[in-house]
Amino acid sequence: MSKYIITGGYKLDGSVAVDCAKNAYLPILAGTIMCEEQVILRNCPKFVDVLNMCKILEKLNMKVVFQDDAVVINGENANPNFVPVEVAKLLRSSIFTLGAMLARFKRARVAYPGGCDIGLRPINLHLKGLRDMGVKITESHGVINCDASNLHGGKVVLDYPSVGATENLMMCAVLGKEHITILNGAREPEIADLANFLNLMGAKIYGAGTSTIEIDGVDRLYGVEYTPIGDRIIAGTYLIAGAITGGQIEVTNCNPHFFASLIDKLHNSGCVLRVKSDKIYLKSPKVLKSVGFVETQSYPGFPTDLQAQILALQTVSRGCCVIQENLFESRFKFVPELIKMGANVRAKERTAVVEGVPFLSGAEVYAKDLRGGASLVLAGLNAHGYTTVNDIHHIERGYCDLNVVLNNLGASIKKVI
Ligand code: UD1
Repeated sequence: MSKYIITGGYKLDGSVAVDCAKNAYLPILAGTIMCEEQVILRNCPKFVDVLNMCKILEKLNMKVVFQDDAVVINGENANPNFVPVEVAKLLRSSIFTLGAMLARFKRARVAYPGGCDIGLRPINLHLKGLRDMGVKITESHGVINCDASNLHGGKVVLDYPSVGATENLMMCAVLGKEHITILNGAREPEIADLANFLNLMGAKIYGAGTSTIEIDGVDRLYGVEYTPIGDRIIAGTYLIAGAITGGQIEVTNCNPHFFASLIDKLHNSGCVLRVKSDKIYLKSPKVLKSVGFVETQSYPGFPTDLQAQILALQTVSRGCCVIQENLFESRFKFVPELIKMGANVRAKERTAVVEGVPFLSGAEVYAKDLRGGASLVLAGLNAHGYTTVNDIHHIERGYCDLNVVLNNLGASIKKVI
């Protein structure tokens, strides 16, 4: 198992461009299933999740070639093959193949998805929405069998604005003759990005990025070249890295409007921020202040995917902070690891209370999931002495060469394989 050995105490200073968003790239990769022509996706980040999604496309007989910064995909000979548990369990986003295969082939067989262990991750909203669109679904032995030959138009109301369910339903509705309206859809920027990509290919999706999405089915999609949006979670992680080290940092290739809720908290912590349309600059204060209260919500609220990182920042901020995790029930698994580093945190169920300490001290810690793992790296950047972050395969699911990026900004991180 690979690990990072971090020597803490170095202030970060410099500029860094973020990769394309994992959470945009994954549904967009699934979206290529619906196209019989070549699609070129630029700036392909080599996150493990992205590579695994490409493996799934290959299982569906699609041609996937990495060329320079791009991934070139040809779905001319794609088949609605079974997506077995061995690959489906590699990532939660394997479930996106369902909507895309149903759109193109009107049938799909997919094993239940895997993903980070952050609590129950049901797909009931995906399945209910599909049923409401006329898809016949049977489930047996962890496999979902779907038949969309009687897909019909109408309204689909989500009980909760699930990101994945919104994207799956949107994809399922793209090909055909029906008009489908999704109500109470999620509003995340990655959903609008998926719609922009599909619309460029010829789809007719209106309102993505709002809670009402209208889709007019079309006969076919055409090959395009597309660059997904920058990763707002990585951008946020880098900004917090700048703040927690007392440094200054510019983050580019991101739209700060997409993480306004984090920017607000960083302001409250005393950081100086300069925001442009596609980049942001942060200068850390001499003493970080507690941000008081953070509550995770669906977009545009504070993202659950930045909860662990802001909590790491609070461990060395003056004062007390309460963090409420509303989306996933097991998203504080990194807290005992931070406590090993001297953090003063009490976490119970979905609430964590953080009392800032003057500094953390290096320790041997274990990443338990992607974002919690990233928060341990942030803590290690601040800590006195050495921090060893084990099990970094979790981190590599959503960050490319995090050690190299942070070292280029002045950190000292050694990766041991
Ligand atoms: C997406 C993101 C993930 C992020 C999450 C919340 C991708 C690839 N992943 O995950 O990084 O943490 O949004 O912003 O985009 N739920 C149900 N039933 C369902 C689906 C969801 O109860 O069928 C619940 C979940 O348990 C959770 C909440 O809805 O409590 C939000 O989940 P959802 O928005 O679906 O997250 P994902 O799409 O899995």
